[in-house]
Amino acid sequence: MEKKTFYITTPIYYPSGNAHIGHSYCTVASDAIARYRRMQGYDVMFLTGTDEHGLKIEQKAEAEGVTPKQYVDKIVANFQKLWKLLNISNDRFIRTTDDYHVKAVQKIFRELYDRGDIYKGKYDGWYCTPCESFWTETQLKDGKCPDCGREVKWAEEEAYFFRLSKYADRILKLYEEHPEFIQPESRKNEMIAFIKQGLQDLCVSRTSFTWGIPVDFDPKHVVYVWVDALTNYITAMGYGSDDDSDYKKYWPADVHFVGKEIVRFHTIIWPAMLMALDLPLPKQVYGHGWLLFGDGTKMSKSKGNVVDPNILCERYGVDAIRYFLLREIPFGADGVFTNEALIARINSDLANDLGNLVSRTTAMVQKYFGGHIPEQRESEPIDEELIAMASALREKCDKAIDGYQFSAALTEIWKLVARSNKYIDETMPWALGKDEAKRDRLAAVMYNLCEALRIVSILITPFLPDTAPRIQKQLGLSAESLTYESAAVWGVTPASAVVEKGETLFPRIDVDKEIEELNALIPNPMEEKAEEKKPKIEGLAQIGIDDFAKVELRAAKVVACEPIKKAKKLLKLTLDDGEGERTVASGIAKWYKPEDLIGRTVVLVANLKPATLCGVESQGMILAADAGEDDVRVIFLEGVPAGSSIH
Ligand code: MSP
Repeated sequence: MEKKTFYITTPIYYPSGNAHIGHSYCTVASDAIARYRRMQGYDVMFLTGTDEHGLKIEQKAEAEGVTPKQYVDKIVANFQKLWKLLNISNDRFIRTTDDYHVKAVQKIFRELYDRGDIYKGKYDGWYCTPCESFWTETQLKDGKCPDCGREVKWAEEEAYFFRLSKYADRILKLYEEHPEFIQPESRKNEMIAFIKQGLQDLCVSRTSFTWGIPVDFDPKHVVYVWVDALTNYITAMGYGSDDDSDYKKYWPADVHFVGKEIVRFHTIIWPAMLMALDLPLPKQVYGHGWLLFGDGTKMSKSKGNVVDPNILCERYGVDAIRYFLLREIPFGADGVFTNEALIARINSDLANDLGNLVSRTTAMVQKYFGGHIPEQRESEPIDEELIAMASALREKCDKAIDGYQFSAALTEIWKLVARSNKYIDETMPWALGKDEAKRDRLAAVMYNLCEALRIVSILITPFLPDTAPRIQKQLGLSAESLTYESAAVWGVTPASAVVEKGETLFPRIDVDKEIEELNALIPNPMEEKAEEKKPKIEGLAQIGIDDFAKVELRAAKVVACEPIKKAKKLLKLTLDDGEGERTVASGIAKWYKPEDLIGRTVVLVANLKPATLCGVESQGMILAADAGEDDVRVIFLEGVPAGSSIH
C-alpha cells in the first residue's frame, strides 16, 4: 500500500545576515513535525530554503565589494551548516537563485500575465534615491527615508501588478469553508479584518534594482519578492519543470509554518496566486510567534542583538537547544529567550528529571542484576498507575502534535518522567536490594522503569534525536522494540536486553558561573537597561511584614484564555492554581492575545475577594507591571510549578 504523504515547509529565509535563534525556532519546530510524521509512517517531504533576491541583498553585497551571488553563497552555506548542526532533517533545500526555480517563476509570471491576472501599470510612492527604495506615507520616519533618514521625493515607476483585489471574496469564502486554513484561530480574525478594509492590487515587478528574476518578456523588470518567494513551495517540487512528479505527489502542502508577520502573505497573496493559476491550495498555514529578548524586543538580524545558536549548541548540546525552543513557548505565542530560562530548563527538565531517571535506572539494573533483569518478576498494585500512564502517552502526544503543540507533547512526556522518578522513591529499590526475598519485586520495579524509559525514548526521538538513541543504547534496545507502534504497548522490552550505565546525558550546569560566562558572550539588553538612570518613583506609605503576609501570592498556570465579548479590555483566563481551576478576568486584552498567555505561568493574588466583571466572576487577580506609557507587561514565571507560593 502507498504511504500517505505529508508535506511541510518553513519560510525561505533571507540570507541578508547569518541565521539566528529566531530562524532556528521555526526550522526546529518543522523538523520535529517532519520527524514525528515519518515515525508515524508517513512519506514526508520537508522543505526549507533561502529567499535570495531583492534590493537589500544587492546593497549588502555592494557594501562588501562582492557580487550578490557571492554574498548569498557565503551566507547560505552558513544557514546550511547550522541546519546540519541542529540535526534538521529537511528533504530538500531550495535557493531562489537555483536555475529551475528561476525558470519556473518566469513561466508562472507569464502565465498569470496571459490569463490577465498580471497587468502593467504605474507604481508610485515616496522614493529615496540613494537607497533606490519606494516607501508609503506611513512607512516614512518624520517624513524621511526610514532606512537612511534622507529626503525622499514623490516618484512613479512602471510596474506589473497582480489583481489581488479580484480574489478578496474567494479568500473570505476559503476561510469560511476551511476554518482550519489559518491557525491559530486569532490570526484568522486579523486576516479577515485586513481583507475587509479592501485589498489593493499588488506590485509584482521593479525596475529600480536588478538583483532578481528578470521578467522574460520585459527584461528591464525583475520579479518583485512575493511571486518569487511564495512559489518556492511548488517549484521545489518540480512545478514548472519537466519533471513535476513530486509536485503531483506532495502538493498541496499539509502545512506551511511561518512567523506571524508573514501570515498575511501566506493566507491572502499565496492562495490568490494559486487561485489565479487554478492550482490546489495548501491545507493549512500556521503562524507561530516570535522569540523575544527579556525586554520584549524581537531578535532580528538588523538589531545585531542576536543569540548565536552555534555558541549555544557548542556549550549545551543540540538537543538542549531544541528542547528549550520546543518546550518553553507554546507554538503560536511569543516567547522570551533569556539565558537564565535556558539554563533553568536544562538543569530541571533535562539534567534532573530525564538525565537522573536514566542514570539511576541503569545504575541500579547494573548494581542489582549485572545489567540483566531476571524474568521472574512480582507485580504490585502500585505499578498500575505507571503502566497506565505510559501506555496512554503515545495517544496524548499524537493529539498534541496534530495541533502542533510541541510544548504540550513534551509536557505529557515529562509527566511520565516525573511519575517514574516518583515511582523510584515509592518503591525504594535500595531497600528491596538489601533483602534477597524481595528479588522478584526488585526485578519488576527495574523492568517497569526500563519500559517507561523505552516509551519515553521513542516519543522524544522527533524532538531530541541525539539523546533518544543514547538512552536506547543504555537500555540495550534494538529497532524492533523501538517502533512507533510499540510506543503504545507495554511490556515490549525483551528479556535479553542488556542494560548498561552510559555517560551522563545532560551534565548539571553551575548557574551563576554559566550566566556570567554566557552574558559575556551574548548581549543581554536587560542588563544595559538596568544601568540607565531610573526616575524616582512616588510610592505608597510603608507597610509592615504582617500587612504583606495578608496577600496570598501563588504561581498559576494559564490553561485556557479567551476574550470577553462584552468587554473589549478584558481577557478571561482559566488558571491552574495548583489545587484546581479558577477563572480570573484581567484588563490586559490590549497588550496580550490569548495564545500569548496559554501555557505560561503567572503570579496570582489568590485570596482576593471574588468580583464580577462584565458578567464574569473573577476569582483573583494576576500581577502585571506598567512598563511604560501605555505598556503593560504580565509578570511571567519560568520553571515554577503551579501552586507554588510566592513570598
Ligand atoms: N523571506 C521571507 C519569507 C518568504 S516565505 C515564502 C522572510 N524571511 S526572514 O528571514 O525575514 O524571516 C523568515 C522567518 O523567520 C519568518 O517566519 C520570521 O517570522 C522568522 N523569524 C525571524 N526572526 C524571528 C524571531 N525572533 N522569532 C521567531 N521567528 C522569527 O520573511
